[in-house]
Amino acid sequence: MKPCFADIARCPSDGGSVVLHVFESRPRVHSPADDALLQRSGLSKAGRDVEVMSGVLVNERLQIAYPILDGVPRLLRFAAGVVRTFGERFGDRLRRELPLVHLPNDEAMPAEEEVLRTFSSEWVGYDWDGASYWNMKADSWFRSMDYVLDIAPDSLRGKRVLEVGIGIGGVANHVATTQAAETVGMDLGHAVDVAFKHFGNSPLLHIVQASAFQLPYAALSFDYVYSFGVLHHTFSTKTAFDAVAKLPKESGKFFLWVYSPVNENRTLLRRTLMKVEKLARPVITRLPEKAQTVALLPTLPVYMAWQVMQTLRGEADVRYGFREALHAARDRLTPRFAHRHTEDEVAGWFSSNGFFVANRGSERTRPEWLPVGFLANTAITGVRATM
Ligand SMILES: C[S@@+](CC[C@H](N)C(=O)[O-])C[C@H]1O[C@@H](n2cnc3c(N)ncnc32)[C@H](O)[C@@H]1O
Repeated sequence: MKPCFADIARCPSDGGSVVLHVFESRPRVHSPADDALLQRSGLSKAGRDVEVMSGVLVNERLQIAYPILDGVPRLLRFAAGVVRTFGERFGDRLRRELPLVHLPNDEAMPAEEEVLRTFSSEWVGYDWDGASYWNMKADSWFRSMDYVLDIAPDSLRGKRVLEVGIGIGGVANHVATTQAAETVGMDLGHAVDVAFKHFGNSPLLHIVQASAFQLPYAALSFDYVYSFGVLHHTFSTKTAFDAVAKLPKESGKFFLWVYSPVNENRTLLRRTLMKVEKLARPVITRLPEKAQTVALLPTLPVYMAWQVMQTLRGEADVRYGFREALHAARDRLTPRFAHRHTEDEVAGWFSSNGFFVANRGSERTRPEWLPVGFLANTAITGVRATM
């Protein structure tokens, strides 16, 4: 964690400010490209010259100490496994140096620990190699994300951006680098550890473990907030939406992409696969990780064959090996929740949270290189009205 993140972070319990206590840190070496990026952003170098590897962010009013472990701040309100690990490694030191504080111990949101567990397996086992991103070449994925996020070049330079649910973190890193924007990439699960391994060196990217339900930032504090393929995987997409919608500033933007029934019903094959998914997911999600992997093995040849078909139809530009197929199968068949929402439903959520809808996927022109799913699901950009 870069120390300057402490200025952005807030307590996820009461929204109060947090104070940084460093246990272990290491110097960060800025490459000439990092220096150039920082200069382009116009942001100060201060607070970016060390990496805090362990320590705590303390809410002094509530006396809660949120762990920083393996370079990542863990701003979760509940006693997740990572909080217990921190207690085992640094509990003595914490009691000695900050005797009045305690680690977070609230209740998790419904099934949140299960969501954390299944997505952690999905990403920690992915072993990303940078060549592909989901079912596309990494560059094609970033180009597609640029299109759906609809951010004009340089329009976020020096501004503050949040991605909710970063997965491996490549898109957040892409946005931070191409826009020269101060970017926070958060995720509920251990995807953050993989993201930190790949992108922790970026001077403008902050990688954070936190939940969309209890966001560790001040209201109205981001210029652009986006979330792609995430909130439908929570117990209540709408509750998560209402929490995230508090964060964009006046005139700030919020882009949301969630599964839509329209995309699922586009073809007979999709309708059939959806039926299979609906039957299999509730069973597979409850299995322990190893049993999940075994249960998914028979589906992998189907994923590989499907992907060959997609490449022939121009919907994808890479084929799946075992690793990619397992990742895709996990994403489809292990999440506890995968809700579908229509554009009209989500547009209503934007309106009731004080946003006007700037664009809807169904009304945008799809360039021929953009895979159908990017706009055939529910993809909406809202702009917060000025008060
Ligand atoms: C399908 S992945 C998408 C990741 C990334 N947006 C992408 O497109 O590559 C869904 C991600 O949402 C995260 N997630 C689920 N519930 C969350 C929550 N309550 N808060 C934050 N992230 C959450 C999961 O851990 C997982 O990494």
